[in-house]
Amino acid sequence: KRLAVLVSGGGSNLQALIDAIQSGEISAKIELVISNREQAYGLTRAAQNGIATHYLGIKNYPDSNARAEKLNTLLAAHQIDYVVLAGYLSILKPETIRQYEGRIVNIHPSLIPKYCGEGFYGHHVHEAVLANGESESGATTHFVDEGVDTGKIIYQERVPVLKGDTVETLSARVLTVEHQLIVRTVRDLCSGSVKTSE
Ligand code: GRF
Repeated sequence: KRLAVLVSGGGSNLQALIDAIQSGEISAKIELVISNREQAYGLTRAAQNGIATHYLGIKNYPDSNARAEKLNTLLAAHQIDYVVLAGYLSILKPETIRQYEGRIVNIHPSLIPKYCGEGFYGHHVHEAVLANGESESGATTHFVDEGVDTGKIIYQERVPVLKGDTVETLSARVLTVEHQLIVRTVRDLCSGSVKTSE
């Protein structure tokens, strides 16, 4: 299967996918890594692994509709089967969702439907979990629909919130689980044991 991975930051979820493909756990090839942030380290990780990269952001595509059109063109040109949002902090346009309905997955660092949607991304999630005194948090993979973090859930994994946890310690514990979840999700999507949500 042919994958496109979209990143905005460090790309540790992308790295987990690269490693799982290299180890043979996932039978797929990452054809393309795209970021809306020119400095995203995820682009460096892709380049280090010989994967084609594209920056599509406000500097080279200031108009968001033109940017969406370019994204759709790239995905089609590379005959992408599945799109993986791995720490991607931009909302896909409806035409992209429609073109890939049921074949776009996202990883989110909370137990959806808790702590998700507008504003709940990255460390904001863990800050809110700690502020509310939750005893547990976790990660979720889901299909992407036109809402924010609202598509059909694929897998979810819990992690405990421990006494004395900080945003750093909690986010690190959740990120470890994200890496396991994103690999399991993409593996099972590519093997057909998780059905696309069409
Ligand atoms: C992390 O906050 C992670 O929880 C979320 O995106 C952020 C960066 O992930 N999925 P990555 O290291 O860029 O994959």
